[in-house]
Amino acid sequence: MKHLITFLLLAFAGSGWAAETVPLSTLDLSKMRQGWGTPQIDRSVTEILTPQPPRAPRINGAKVFGVRPGSPFLFTIPATGDRPMKFAADRLPKGLKVNPDNGQITGVLANRGEYQVILRAANALGKATRPFKIVCGDTLALTPHMGWNSWYIWENHVTDKVMRDAADAMVSSGMLNHGYIYVNIDDCWAVKPGSNDATLQGEPRDAQGKVNSNPRFPDMRALTDYIHSQGLKAGIYTSPGPLTCAGHVGAYQHEEQDVQRFAEWGFDFLKHDWCSYGEVVKNPDRAALQKPYRQISEMLRRQQRDIVLNLCQYGMGKVWEWGREVGGNSWRTAGDLGQTFEGIATGLFRDGFDVYSINQLHKFGGPGAWNDPDYLLLGYLSNWKGQTAPTPLTPNEQYTQVSLWCLVAAPLIFSGDMTRLDAFTLNLLCNDEVLEVDQDPLGKPGRRVAKTEDLEVWAKEMEDGSKVVGLFNRGEMEMTVAAKWSDLGIQEKQRVRDLWRQIGLGSFDQQFQASVPRHGVVLVRMWPLHRP
Ligand code: GLA
Repeated sequence: MKHLITFLLLAFAGSGWAAETVPLSTLDLSKMRQGWGTPQIDRSVTEILTPQPPRAPRINGAKVFGVRPGSPFLFTIPATGDRPMKFAADRLPKGLKVNPDNGQITGVLANRGEYQVILRAANALGKATRPFKIVCGDTLALTPHMGWNSWYIWENHVTDKVMRDAADAMVSSGMLNHGYIYVNIDDCWAVKPGSNDATLQGEPRDAQGKVNSNPRFPDMRALTDYIHSQGLKAGIYTSPGPLTCAGHVGAYQHEEQDVQRFAEWGFDFLKHDWCSYGEVVKNPDRAALQKPYRQISEMLRRQQRDIVLNLCQYGMGKVWEWGREVGGNSWRTAGDLGQTFEGIATGLFRDGFDVYSINQLHKFGGPGAWNDPDYLLLGYLSNWKGQTAPTPLTPNEQYTQVSLWCLVAAPLIFSGDMTRLDAFTLNLLCNDEVLEVDQDPLGKPGRRVAKTEDLEVWAKEMEDGSKVVGLFNRGEMEMTVAAKWSDLGIQEKQRVRDLWRQIGLGSFDQQFQASVPRHGVVLVRMWPLHRP
């Protein structure tokens, strides 16, 4: 039996077996932006592995959620299945209520504590339930953040409309039903001193010294109200320096006013990007590297609002060793993955695989504070030449990025075009068995357990005692990759499941091996055979 399954797996992997093959057909020329964006297609067919979710309800996403006492609460029950759907929640603590039509849980919790809730969803085809733990205390981001960020597609063209369209697409594409929740503005929403573009000009600050948005964002509060009304959360960006990396106004010497402003505007997430702070402190030692982040996190904690803090300083001073201590909920571990469009694949292997392994980053991430190797560079991206283009990552490299990010419990922040989500990209972003690896409540980042030249095996321990194992091939030729029980620290026979295809592969002893295409991955989860 075992040999038959191994043979079938090798045959399937080798023959490019796929559940479905579809044309990349969602390109809508009517949506081409004037003077910005020349879509190109570099592939006509791509291999979709993720099966469609069932039509009966299924509740997905995080199983544990952190909130602070007194802060506005918002969690939208992520559930796939036919609409209309009705939602409920048993044993919700006092102060919270659920909207039966859209699954939004809102309110305020007065008291600290852990609350075990049962989420419910029902439609014409069935019902689903799922345990959900609310932890009211000091720690946010108990699982890695999931959402979207504007940078790699919109860079300095971001507007209020772009953000609203992204929020709409988060709902209409179904991404919300898989747990994606943050809709984050990156750089370029503030005034740009010296710009001759009228839409970037204006008073940088108001009479109280609080930062103003530029004319592309006429009413930030209205924008976050809109994002929240969709059951989503809103993120913003600034720098501890006088200017952001793209030369817009930063928070330097106005930190308190700006944090207050972000809270008044209703933001839920802040990316704090080092940028021109490098001019303020030259050759910073560790204390100087920490100072602006400590300061901003203390200010954020004083707000009556939960604002997740993302440290962006490209890994300087081994930020992973102290990112949590200074109040970060995540920290970028390296420079920009998509610094150049052509270099994304190189960056993926360098920053995703090597920076992580060399620095043993699995030791540092965990509930409340995560390693962030940058965004998911899938779908349509800016090519930095005034055009948009499909990601230069091959389909196998795209599976590799999502698989690795989930194995290392990285934030899953997509940064491609939300208005041009094709079926292949949604298949990458919305596989619930793969996402469960990232969102596992144990929050234990995986690590590389074996490497032989171009072949790598990575493993992550899951809360239920299972292991998730990634078989990666960084080489140029298809190769067989073996995950040996001795490398995984297990002895007994294992039941193995292919997570991308969502199929059981049978039981295996001593090792599991599969043929893995160039720059590709096979991602499996394994449970000791004697367990259910
Ligand atoms: C830096 C950051 C990027 C992005 C840009 C914006 O390069 O690392 O993620 O925020 O700044 O200017």
